[in-house]
Amino acid sequence: MAPSPEPTTAGGRAATAAEPVLRASGLHKTYHGGMLSRGGAVRAVAGVDLELYAGETLGIVGESGCGKSTLARMLVGLERPDQGEVTFRGRPFFTRGGVPRDIRRRVQMVFQDPLTSLNPRMTVHDIVAEPLRVHRLSPNARAMRDRVGELLTLVGLPPDRMNRFPHEFSGGQRQRVGIARALATEPDVIVCDEPVSALDMSVQAQVVNLFAELQSTLGVALVFIAHDLAVVRHVSHRVGVMYLGKLAEMGPAAEVYGAPAHPYTMALMSAAPVPKPQLRGRSRIMLAGDPPSPVAPPPGCRFHTRCWKATERCAEVEPALEAVGDHFAACHYAERAS
Ligand SMILES: Nc1ncnc2c1ncn2[C@@H]1O[C@H](COP(=O)(O)OP(=O)(O)O)[C@@H](O)[C@H]1O
Ligand SMILES: [Mg+2]
Repeated sequence: MAPSPEPTTAGGRAATAAEPVLRASGLHKTYHGGMLSRGGAVRAVAGVDLELYAGETLGIVGESGCGKSTLARMLVGLERPDQGEVTFRGRPFFTRGGVPRDIRRRVQMVFQDPLTSLNPRMTVHDIVAEPLRVHRLSPNARAMRDRVGELLTLVGLPPDRMNRFPHEFSGGQRQRVGIARALATEPDVIVCDEPVSALDMSVQAQVVNLFAELQSTLGVALVFIAHDLAVVRHVSHRVGVMYLGKLAEMGPAAEVYGAPAHPYTMALMSAAPVPKPQLRGRSRIMLAGDPPSPVAPPPGCRFHTRCWKATERCAEVEPALEAVGDHFAACHYAERAS
């Protein structure tokens, strides 16, 4: 695994007064009539604010169903929020004419499963060239071929295999194709939705390292989503922990991992293998049961039904995401690092 990059942020926010490349404010998304909702409204994302600064990696973790993919789709403009907005360098994504073309070009996505996100009937050349075509970035076929070759080399694939089809590549290689496609338009931001979850454990680290490398050589800002805390840790400057459509905790990676403030983060950490010696002695916290349904999230703090610290107040009053030392947590009883 690559070493954690130097943090570019302090206090959970950029140390400089720079404008974030991407900002999400008050994002909400509710699905109606989904297959699993039994007619109810699924509150997939229920009020998320975040900022992404140039050249940083923001990790987002949370259990399956907590709204990560819905958030990812809103962050790239594939899905329109019901409330709130996403801005790119201060400009709103959604205008009357849809997402402006240059914003689409600058904000790209890498999907979870390269097998379903790459068209099996297209050659790797055509897959990687598609955004070049859509955004008219290559003057002719030859320039396009050269550029595709360059992009494949950048992600560690032999360019002489560009005329092959996705099924002729391994899982890890296919995800590299997806990454090359995302890089084609020279984006400022790539939102990666569980980009290694579908890969074998042995390949995951290689692809995570590729992201770390691309980040430091290209300076692209990444939102790196995973359900596995360990995966996010090594690439992220800051980490946000999602629970049932909201952020429970957010801050510099070292703080969130080293001194988690929210009971949910502690539970997630204690369920994962812990490399930190100072945490090793802690007793394991087991989360009882599955997360509640996003059709009917619990009142008050949405984590209170599974929380060993919960009091009456937690069932009644929803805690806001507030500063706790160097980071932010939405808990009435957030723990300060000593
Ligand atoms: N297109 C959709 N229609 C209806 N419900 C959806 C849709 N997409 C996601 N959901 C529901 O929204 C919730 C959040 O899903 P998702 O964003 O995929 O979470 P995650 O990526 O964290 O697993 C889940 O309950 C899921 O079933
Ligand atoms: Mg998902």
